Amino acid sequence: MVSSSQIKIKIEKLAIGGAGIARHDGLVIFVPLAAPGDELLVELTTQKKNFAEARIIEILKPGPARREPPCPVALVCGGCNWQQITEEEQRRQKESLVLETIKKFNPSLDFDYLPLKESPRVFRYRNRIQPKFKTGKFGFFARNSHEIVEITDCPITEEALTQKFPEVKAWVAAKNSKDLLRLEMYISDQEEVRYGLITDEDDGVGFSQVNRFQNEDLLKTALECAGDSTYKQIFDLYAGSGNFTFPLLNKYKNSPVTAVELNPKLVERGRAQNKDKRLRYFLSDVESFMKRATITNQDLVLLDPPRAGASEYIMRALAAGKPEKIIYISCHPVSLARDLKWFFEWSQKLGHKYRLSRVQAFEMFPQTDHVETIAELRVD
Ligand SMILES: C[S@@+](CC[C@H](N)C(=O)[O-])C[C@H]1O[C@@H](n2cnc3c(N)ncnc32)[C@H](O)[C@@H]1O
Repeated sequence: MVSSSQIKIKIEKLAIGGAGIARHDGLVIFVPLAAPGDELLVELTTQKKNFAEARIIEILKPGPARREPPCPVALVCGGCNWQQITEEEQRRQKESLVLETIKKFNPSLDFDYLPLKESPRVFRYRNRIQPKFKTGKFGFFARNSHEIVEITDCPITEEALTQKFPEVKAWVAAKNSKDLLRLEMYISDQEEVRYGLITDEDDGVGFSQVNRFQNEDLLKTALECAGDSTYKQIFDLYAGSGNFTFPLLNKYKNSPVTAVELNPKLVERGRAQNKDKRLRYFLSDVESFMKRATITNQDLVLLDPPRAGASEYIMRALAAGKPEKIIYISCHPVSLARDLKWFFEWSQKLGHKYRLSRVQAFEMFPQTDHVETIAELRVD
């Protein structure tokens, strides 16, 4: 038990979720907004049996990769949690977090771990944001709070959007509402800036990749992983509005492609984009879809689930179908590592041999702890 609530610690590395990790008297301490190597005076804010959370009182000696955040509100805004760390160190931490997490869940798994792919832009990369407005304040929620941090710029957002902040603020202020208003601003496929309110009835765009500069490489790499086989069927699970579906449809000219997506708006957009007879776009939950799908050993399955990952049922159904190749695109290393564990356990039980042939982290969200990963699995 740590008795004094203020202690001196040294940050070893960063954790999933973004906080720095330090050890003190057998206790693991998580410190938001820390940088690796920081020597800090911290105050414990939560203390459990095996771990505690703390906030920084004073930076006694900054770690080698600590810097002044380029955005003046970075340390209070709920958006970026790694701006106090150089980009080079952010990448290094993400690369090792993905590797460590997969290894922790799957200690005996061997795989080729390729170097993390850098984002072409580390600032001005976001093409969709959700600002808030209340009582004259336009901005984002503060960290762990519903207070609004006022902004006139957001350095991770594309300039086409930030230039419209005065117009959007005036537009929303004219509504004369006392309520908290949630907005969405984005750059459309036609390169136009669009904005509007998000309400219970209209939740906005739904999902889209927010870093279009890095998305190009993600698509290219996914197609490279898919390789030159002639697949009997191709499945794009958690397809959104077709980010991977259409490049797959274009590359594999003789294969039927099935996209599965739960959000009706995204399905509608996907269906409207392409009327090719080889494409079937299902409005369905992936688990329900897997109950009736027939996957064969000549198929390709790409899945790109939300942060919660897939499920044991889905990974088991994939293992049972024994597709020639699986490409798993993940936005959370823990759910990826857990789903891989389920997949390999079930493959083994069913006597199917698979290899995790490639894993690669992608920097899609610089200045935050979020990381994208591609994992390729093939029949051995
Ligand atoms: C990470 S996004 C990927 C979307 C798309 N692959 C892309 O790159 O734009 C995950 C998608 O899964 C959808 N989704 C979430 N839960 C789902 C479920 N249970 N079944 C089907 N789709 C789901 C979300 O609406 C979202 O579009």
